[in-house]
Amino acid sequence: MPDLAGPLLPWYLAARRDLPWRAPDATPWGVLVSEFMLQQTQVDRVLPRWHAWLDAWPTPADLAAALAGDAIRAWGRLGYPRRAVWLHAAALQIVERHGGRVPDDLDALLALRGVGNYTARAVLVFAFGQRHPVVDTNIRRVLARAVDGVAAPGPPNARRDLAAMARVLPRDAGRARQFTWAIMELGALVCTARTPACDRCPITDRCRWLLLGRPATTSRPARR
Ligand code: ADE
Repeated sequence: MPDLAGPLLPWYLAARRDLPWRAPDATPWGVLVSEFMLQQTQVDRVLPRWHAWLDAWPTPADLAAALAGDAIRAWGRLGYPRRAVWLHAAALQIVERHGGRVPDDLDALLALRGVGNYTARAVLVFAFGQRHPVVDTNIRRVLARAVDGVAAPGPPNARRDLAAMARVLPRDAGRARQFTWAIMELGALVCTARTPACDRCPITDRCRWLLLGRPATTSRPARR
């Protein structure tokens, strides 16, 4: 397995965007809200809504005490407003079942409204510093290229995708968290779907796709 963390971590420290949900003072609630908002919406559009949301409802209990209609209004034009309804329902569940604290275990998170495999794992890693594989669209694309040597990932397959991420994840939980942000950031800023900027990529010396000459095919090479 190529060592991706070695070159990616220093690159991330230099290239990363300063996002408030990645700051040391971000709360688990702030992280959960960010992941709901980022599910279908770009970072630039999420930023102002995230700040306004946390000013209005700094804790799950604050949102649980509001009306779902207020949550929908505050969602604004982020799109897919059912996410606001789900987040409001999740806040109620967090108050009822977890004393108002975002839970820090996978099953409890998965039982919350609107929380799927990606969001639950992202909260464990980003909010609680636990070591788990997390896979989103950007991460799937980077791994398809760097590790599998294909231009684009095959259809999502949670078990296989999580296993692929687990194989490149640093052992140390703190480094694993930084690595997860780093590989997401690489997919968002450099290893983009349509026009990957390989000239700015920190892992060109070990990217299997680049070493193969960037084949356009989406069919997978024979299993190793
Ligand atoms: N940082 C943490 N989670 C993120 C996400 N889903 N998109 C962009 N940046 C993030």
